[in-house]
Amino acid sequence: MGDGRVPVTVIGLGMMGRALARAFLAGEHPTTVWNRTAGRAEELVAAGAAGADSVAAAVSASPLVVVCVRDYQAAYEILGPVSDALTGRLLVNLTSGTSAQARAMAGWAAERGAGYLDGAIMMTPPGIGTAEAVILYGGPSETFAAHRPALTALGGGTIHLGADVGLASVYDVALLGIMWSTFNGFMHAAALVGSENVPATTFLPLARQWLTGVASFLTPYAEQIDTGDYTASDATLETHLSPVEHLIEESRARGIDATAAEYTKRLVEEAVANGHALDSYARIVEHFTPAPRA
Ligand SMILES: NC(=O)c1ccc[n+]([C@@H]2O[C@H](COP(=O)([O-])OP(=O)(O)OC[C@H]3O[C@@H](n4cnc5c(N)ncnc54)[C@H](OP(=O)(O)O)[C@@H]3O)[C@@H](O)[C@H]2O)c1
Repeated sequence: MGDGRVPVTVIGLGMMGRALARAFLAGEHPTTVWNRTAGRAEELVAAGAAGADSVAAAVSASPLVVVCVRDYQAAYEILGPVSDALTGRLLVNLTSGTSAQARAMAGWAAERGAGYLDGAIMMTPPGIGTAEAVILYGGPSETFAAHRPALTALGGGTIHLGADVGLASVYDVALLGIMWSTFNGFMHAAALVGSENVPATTFLPLARQWLTGVASFLTPYAEQIDTGDYTASDATLETHLSPVEHLIEESRARGIDATAAEYTKRLVEEAVANGHALDSYARIVEHFTPAPRA
């Protein structure tokens, strides 16, 4: 084990927890592991980790305690009985949850004299420890800065979002929403071209190129959202309307579900009916922002 590397404990050795522990081992951190179901630590112990025989022993082994389990309830069930052992340590919770859960757990940790960072992992287990792995953190800047060297072992994209521990969870679901919309768009497209006997693999290169272009469209849209000036520099909402109708027509003609396209049409029609026909697509953000923006 590398001299001077912060000892780390990983609690929860599911698919993600095992990947996290492997990355800490690869970074030469003295690594202690614990899991509810015994046996999941074996591969890690063989790779050099210390297998703790109790949660209390696992927590006491390291100043940095990383927990990654199914949900917050599981984290409380594990840590609740040994919470006194957390005093003076940093708890880094990489379990997925909501911002309210993250804020509540930060308070719970503070009551026990423990530091707290909440993280969201934007990567699957095989990518943990690579330069591409993005892990988002919220919590006190000085706490993050002090532990950044150890946390960087988990991925090149180690990002501190700010002092608010709830922010990582909000970014997490926001980014996942983009992912699912994109997945659904691709599945719909694959079904459309597939109905003309075009294999998805043939369509894929153009789809990927198109996504790169679409990503670039977001730059002016983000600026327009922030300034509230939706002057179209690319296409007006009115211009979007006919192609959306074509997508619906082509889908229906093939017996393909057009619900997502119909939803898009409803959003555009709503904005046009509100007098925004000549604005850019960014105007649609108002549909998702019912409260007046500050
Ligand atoms: N996998 C991914 O691609 C991915 C990506 C981003 C974020 N995440 C997040 O990472 C977290 C873990 O995911 P995973 O993929 O590792 O899931 P997983 O393979 O299903 O592992 C779940 C872990 O939670 C533990 N657990 C569940 N209920 C428990 C309880 N009541 N008490 C104690 N331990 C309990 C399990 O212990 P046992 O072994 O004893 O059942 C296991 O260690 C989740 O919050 C997930 O959303 C996962």
